[in-house]
Amino acid sequence: MTLSSLAHAPREVPAPSKVVSSYTEWDPLEEVVVGRLAGGVFPTWQESMRGTMPPASWRIFQEQGGRPFPQDLVDAAEEELDGLARTLEAEGVKVVRPEPADHAREFATPHWKSAGGLYSAMPRDHLMVVGDTIVEAPMSWRCRYFEGEAFRPLIKSYFRQGARWLQAPRPQLTDELFATGHDEGDTGGWMVTEFEPVFDAADFMRFGRDIVVQQSHVTNDFGIQWLRRALGDGFRVHTIEVNDPHAMHIDATILPLAPGKLLVNPERYVPNDLFRDWEIRKAPPPTLPESWPMYFCSPWVSMNMLSLDERTVVVERQEEPMIELLTDWGFRCIPVDFRHVYTFGGSFHCVTVDVRRRGGDGRYLNLD
Ligand code: ALA
Repeated sequence: MTLSSLAHAPREVPAPSKVVSSYTEWDPLEEVVVGRLAGGVFPTWQESMRGTMPPASWRIFQEQGGRPFPQDLVDAAEEELDGLARTLEAEGVKVVRPEPADHAREFATPHWKSAGGLYSAMPRDHLMVVGDTIVEAPMSWRCRYFEGEAFRPLIKSYFRQGARWLQAPRPQLTDELFATGHDEGDTGGWMVTEFEPVFDAADFMRFGRDIVVQQSHVTNDFGIQWLRRALGDGFRVHTIEVNDPHAMHIDATILPLAPGKLLVNPERYVPNDLFRDWEIRKAPPPTLPESWPMYFCSPWVSMNMLSLDERTVVVERQEEPMIELLTDWGFRCIPVDFRHVYTFGGSFHCVTVDVRRRGGDGRYLNLD
């Protein structure tokens, strides 16, 4: 082979990734990850959980960390997760699931140990797709340190098909990261300090080239700065103020359903100029009875919904006021039973990661 024939050989240019591509919460959904609860265990207690977890759970986590959840509750929730997967498939969406994982094994780093992991039920907490990039978040709950491993076969397969893969710096999660109870004034009231970058992906919400984030008990400013710089000039990351002293995950606080249509939690949303051109409607109060077991979160996961496109929303079957509001707003609602999943800390948005949505990378927030 001569140099000149080499010069004329077609250059091998990697095809742009088509398999991973998602910029918004509302473009037509083509492929999605749905989490799994089987193999999950109670989280191992750490003091920072006081900021977010329902007080009724504190003692349970302190005593049961690393032990399996009650089997009947797991079975009921797994059935609902499988039901969600079937519904999405019937709507023409490709559904992928993480490998079954055993979260009951104790583990340690040189600095601390954990009686076990947690679960693979809420991939939204750990993974975020930004365009063709899968971001793995540096989560601050020690028991979640290895949670991403259940998703590694999927991530590696997407990488091989052309996706980009970005893992945030591995945090140390030493005591310096956590507010002691006396220095919360220094952290703005949050249970995490600025010792190192940490965030949960579920504190971010995607609006094309704009990404909105809340600081929380699991997401510090250092983590937000890290993601902003890692994503580069193509994206703008905006921190918004919310009225939520227990903040952990933004997806029961605001939810964009279509360009210009924002559903907000009436107790938490603080008016923001970013949305001045948007029509804003308040989510109705959740319908969940107070007696329903909720280990991890508030009943406001009623608004933690998944859009299949800008006219179609998956909604919990018993949230009738929500179905009424959405129908009146012009949406088609797909009712799915999901209250048993609520018990474990999330709903349709939390248990999914949209891998591919048709559509591009528009600008939807008017910043001029
Ligand atoms: N952490 C959010 C709530 O409890 C999801 O409402």
